[in-house]
Amino acid sequence: MNPEGLLSFPDEVPSFKTKMTEPIRAAGLSAAERLKLLKSANYNVFSLSSADVSIDFLTDSGTGAMSQEQWSAMMLGDESYAGATSFAKFEAAFRRITGLEFVLPAHQGRAAERTLFEGLASLGVLTPDSIIASNALFDTTMGWGTHFARCVNLYCDAFDAGHAFEADFKGNLGLNRLKALVGENPGKVKVVMLTITNNTGGGQPASMQNIRELSGYCRQNGILFFFDAARFAENAFFIKDREPGYAEKPIKEIVLEMFSYVDGATFSAKKDARANIGGAVLFSSRHEGLFFACRPSVIRNEGLFTYGGMAGRDMEAIAQGIDETTEYPYLKNRIGQVQLLHALLEKQGIPVLKPSGGHAVYIDAREYLKAVPEAEYRADTLALFLYAVGGVRAVAIGNMMYAEKDGAGRITKPASSEFLRMAVPRNVYSLEHVLYVAGVFKKVHAAREGLSYGIEVVGTFRNDHFDHFDCKSKLVDEGNFAAAVAHAVAAKPALDAAERVRLEVPK
Ligand code: F0G
Repeated sequence: MNPEGLLSFPDEVPSFKTKMTEPIRAAGLSAAERLKLLKSANYNVFSLSSADVSIDFLTDSGTGAMSQEQWSAMMLGDESYAGATSFAKFEAAFRRITGLEFVLPAHQGRAAERTLFEGLASLGVLTPDSIIASNALFDTTMGWGTHFARCVNLYCDAFDAGHAFEADFKGNLGLNRLKALVGENPGKVKVVMLTITNNTGGGQPASMQNIRELSGYCRQNGILFFFDAARFAENAFFIKDREPGYAEKPIKEIVLEMFSYVDGATFSAKKDARANIGGAVLFSSRHEGLFFACRPSVIRNEGLFTYGGMAGRDMEAIAQGIDETTEYPYLKNRIGQVQLLHALLEKQGIPVLKPSGGHAVYIDAREYLKAVPEAEYRADTLALFLYAVGGVRAVAIGNMMYAEKDGAGRITKPASSEFLRMAVPRNVYSLEHVLYVAGVFKKVHAAREGLSYGIEVVGTFRNDHFDHFDCKSKLVDEGNFAAAVAHAVAAKPALDAAERVRLEVPK
């Protein structure tokens, strides 16, 4: 995409066409009806029925459209308890794509995390006073990590420079910060887990240089180095696109190099494997001991280590999926769509995290809804507003997930960032859907300054990393919210020149 983002016709044909469709049933809902739905969902977007959502950018996890090759592979699913041929294909695909030797199945990413951390704890590697360091652990990883050890997120300086600061690899883990942490806690840092791309940190990639340097440092200091590899292929795309020396290399080669630096990895197959469910834990050939130590956890929690909570057909879909998502045309099209949404919002003056992430666009809600008090959950308020105005569902990644709070949901120490994340499912939405969302944002943008109040938590609040899923809230001022929604809906934002070209030329 050119820097203007919009004016050019694509010079390459998209990587797929559509064979099956799913109706959007919520298209006829009015804003007034959505306001009622929000109230009955206790102002938590996770409690909405998907039938009432027009565009679902809540997550890119398990929500992708599979290819015809994946669907046909599923017909070959071998559902045997032991020795299923589908597991053999799953294992072979992970070995071929990553070069890692040992493969354990898991029903999804968080189960893979439990398998890894339980295995490490069983060996005495993880103890309550040991440390897992990361560029940032996502919610479930943080949940499992803190179950066994202390977790420390170490972003890089470029990330901390703020949403508007442009840098190629804001997903790097600051090696200087890791060295300081190790220095302050001699012998305590046992694991470094690099999340690629960094979901908590804007879907930003880590560079090959960062991966290589972390690997060298960890090996010198007896620290195990793992990837949370949920979006490994998207990370590889950014390395090819941005890092000197990689432009001519095929994605598959870049992926092999990335994994050559780690001791192992956890996978959620619901992201870059483009499956609806599934996951894996991988170890390099140096770690047969770790592999065996983790097997009892799989058996106890997931099933035998030749299916791990998945059906044979799921393993077939994953084996095919990881092969397809490590192809450049697919990644270019997929990430290009996210970048287009990013450009359309940025042009409106919305404070998006720059540059665009691989799977999602992140809006700095702390900056965007300044009139709403920080204590009233700006990102969650923006999520509710976006849904009420246009039926678009997105998720807050900030205070509700990561701030320190008391048992009543009152923030005692705000999270380092307060984002609204719009995660784009893979191969699901078209250009028209993206333009619709951009149009909804124009309305949101026109009315946002009238929004002066947010939400307050009511009822039971556990105060953990999972409250965002099920906590109940109420609007601090229903009248103010409804008036801002009415203002937004009535707004008739004009198209600018670039958007007119996009919209009118094809007619
Ligand atoms: N790691 C990362 C980086 C993730 O983004 C997720 C899930 C997981 C691990 C857990 O995987 O869902 O298969 O158990 N992220 C989803 C999201 C839910 O919306 O970003 P899982």
